[in-house]
Amino acid sequence: MASLCQACASSSATPLLLAKRVFSLATSPFYFTSGHKIPRHYSSFRASTSAYGSADCVDIKEMKSTDLVELEYAELNLKYKISEEVGHVRIRQHVNPLSSSFSTPAPVPAWEEVYKDPSLPLMVDIGSGSGRFLLWLAKKDAESRNYLGLEIRQKLVKRANFWVNELGLSNVHFIYANATVSFDQLISSYPGPLELVSILCPDPHFKKRHHKRRVVQKPLVNSILQNLKPGGKILVQSDVLQVAQDMRNQLDEEAKVLQHVDTAGAEDGWLVANPMGIRTEREIHAELEGARVYRRLYQKLQL
Ligand SMILES: C[S@@+](CC[C@H](N)C(=O)[O-])C[C@H]1O[C@@H](n2cnc3c(N)ncnc32)[C@H](O)[C@@H]1O
Repeated sequence: MASLCQACASSSATPLLLAKRVFSLATSPFYFTSGHKIPRHYSSFRASTSAYGSADCVDIKEMKSTDLVELEYAELNLKYKISEEVGHVRIRQHVNPLSSSFSTPAPVPAWEEVYKDPSLPLMVDIGSGSGRFLLWLAKKDAESRNYLGLEIRQKLVKRANFWVNELGLSNVHFIYANATVSFDQLISSYPGPLELVSILCPDPHFKKRHHKRRVVQKPLVNSILQNLKPGGKILVQSDVLQVAQDMRNQLDEEAKVLQHVDTAGAEDGWLVANPMGIRTEREIHAELEGARVYRRLYQKLQL
């Protein structure tokens, strides 16, 4: 925090307060001093005047990525003191999706109890993590689509659904599920069309002998393709080139039914920009570290 202005650097600044203060610094033309551009959707905070100093006093490189995550999702205004029932979420870094405890498919919910209108098109985020990414999208688009997060870490799902209630949203839901064993049963029972599937920064499982733990495997790809409506899309991304390449190879193999679309521009076949209008938490961490994020967007052909 060394290069924040004095007010920002005051020891009493909680992350949320800090985020609000940083927003107050984000005046036109929306650049931090390091030249990192503030994403366009922050512009709603533009009206706020600089009560704590000028834009010169924030260096994004000095910010913690947790602060940047709060900044990215500030519009959600989530309550960070959460109920005793949900508790403080301490989570294991990685789980092994091949362990027997994750081999049972998740029960199919009563969709009419989960969504206000279960006939709407559906977006599924596989490995939804904290859920903030989907919550943000669902809040922006309350009318035309439903959102479903599949996540293998139960505490994250519990907290994400707690936030769904806090935000009063009826178009987003999270299910504790191993996507590789549950996707087909869950999604084939959904009453509306499957419009978009995202797999964003999946766990890399670096060691070769652990590659089989990666979420994108042939059965999941088949199941996504079977359930996706014609014209529906699949977005994959990773900041680990080998993981992105692995997903790309598997989806490129389906060229008879899938085509790569590069609406956001492409470089070496990778999309240059994030087409969702909001970054995921892993994406924020990666970009702060200067890593490149490799993305591909595919569309199911109208056969
Ligand atoms: C690196 S995190 C990325 C989270 C989020 N997509 C992002 O970009 O910030 C990968 C997430 O996928 C979840 N995950 C891993 N394997 C999974 C599986 N088989 N089914 C569902 N979720 C899984 C992990 O628990 C973790 O939350």
